[in-house]
Amino acid sequence: MMLHLPNVLTPEEVQQAQTLLASAPWADGRKGAGEQARQVKNNEQLDHDCAQAQTIRGMVLHALERSPLFFSAALPKRVFPPRLNRYGGDSNYYGDHIDGAVRYMPDTGQRLRTDVSCTIFLSEPDSYDGGELCIADTFGEQAVKLSAGHMILYPGTSLHQVAPVTRGYRLACFFWIESMVRSDEQRRLLYELDMNLLALRQQYGETDETTALTGVYHNLLRMWADT
Ligand code: NI
Repeated sequence: MMLHLPNVLTPEEVQQAQTLLASAPWADGRKGAGEQARQVKNNEQLDHDCAQAQTIRGMVLHALERSPLFFSAALPKRVFPPRLNRYGGDSNYYGDHIDGAVRYMPDTGQRLRTDVSCTIFLSEPDSYDGGELCIADTFGEQAVKLSAGHMILYPGTSLHQVAPVTRGYRLACFFWIESMVRSDEQRRLLYELDMNLLALRQQYGETDETTALTGVYHNLLRMWADT
């Protein structure tokens, strides 16, 4: 499932992130990348420990907590500490790749399976040319370029690339989620059930049917979730 979540960050938070990133110590994104990634990756990233990364990471994690849509779509068990990257100048693309299946959390060393990938755009789309996140999956190939503060969520299994940025700079925050529900297909069913229940409640209030279907939701989640 690919999902666009608008306004995950407020305009004020986007502004704060942009200001912090303007003076951040960008480093070669190939540092620590695997063999295949090194061959196609040409961007810049911030180290996990740098002050700007810490502040923005906290802001993003806080924003995720206030998003019921994010929770419903990702059913997070563990969230990888959000990272920051920049495309522009001589470091302006990341060719086709599939993200590594297992990552180690920077602070705890704990393993995380990358079931879901997320990118939050931090630059306004008219401030740079190119830089589309192109995602190929069962839904075909999609070129994604969103307003600053908006997020795209997509299956970690997808082949994807960031197209070359030919003008300006593309700033983004990216991270992965290990979901309580490993299967993308099952997560999608739960998400659709949840969203339609929400709409039914808004239209008709609580009814015997919404109560029963909410029970179905939780019983499916109980059957599929690994907590
Ligand atoms: Ni990737």
